[in-house]
Amino acid sequence: MKNSAMFIIVELEGRKIRIPEGLTVIEALWDTGYDVKRGIGCLSGLCGACTVAFIERESTKVKFGLGCQKVAEEGLNVIMMPCFPSRAARYAMEAMAHPLEELGTHYPELYTCNDCGACNVCPEWINVAGVMKFAKDGDYEAAASRVTDCIMCGLCASRCPKSIAPQYVALYIQRALARERPFPPNLAKRLTQMESFVFEAEWSRIVAMGDDELKAYCAAMEGP
Ligand code: SF4
Ligand code: SF4
Ligand code: FES
Repeated sequence: MKNSAMFIIVELEGRKIRIPEGLTVIEALWDTGYDVKRGIGCLSGLCGACTVAFIERESTKVKFGLGCQKVAEEGLNVIMMPCFPSRAARYAMEAMAHPLEELGTHYPELYTCNDCGACNVCPEWINVAGVMKFAKDGDYEAAASRVTDCIMCGLCASRCPKSIAPQYVALYIQRALARERPFPPNLAKRLTQMESFVFEAEWSRIVAMGDDELKAYCAAMEGP
């Protein structure tokens, strides 16, 4: 709980409560013991995962914002936006010889996409409809390369009239591409080094560093 001499009354998730002023909505929920786990990502206003709907005192208009950025003010009435149900297919990709060829088996609804564009509401500015078109057309590299910023918030799925969950379709494609490519030799080498504890001494040295030494170490790693 933050130190504050002033308290305010807000309505959080349908409960009127007294909280210290100056807290964000997420902090206020935590402050009251509400166990917020899903719907929180960066806590910095970047990922868009913490969408809230609210009405401010004296206002009649419902607005939307980010719970980690919206400061709870006297009379605020706010809820976290619920998780939208979307279908994630169950599959064992390690058992598939060519998982890209099985995309339609696991996500047949993809091929009902009519390019309506309703899913283009992405907080990460991904052209979701464009990605689904690449996926339908079999241009999997193009689809995967355009969704690297996806935060799995599910907003796109909540808009789709065909019940497609673009985030899960894209995840399938990314996984399938990774399986069908040769394993990167540098990554194989690094994994072997990690498994044989090559970095253990260096890691112990880093963990023992004070703040100033750690900052200098990181600055040196970043270079000029
Ligand atoms: S789930 Fe959909 S809307 Fe959310 S970040 Fe990923 S592509 Fe964008
Ligand atoms: S909202 Fe659904 S049907 Fe429309 S473009 Fe997006 S994935 Fe296709
Ligand atoms: S938690 Fe990422 S924007 Fe709020």
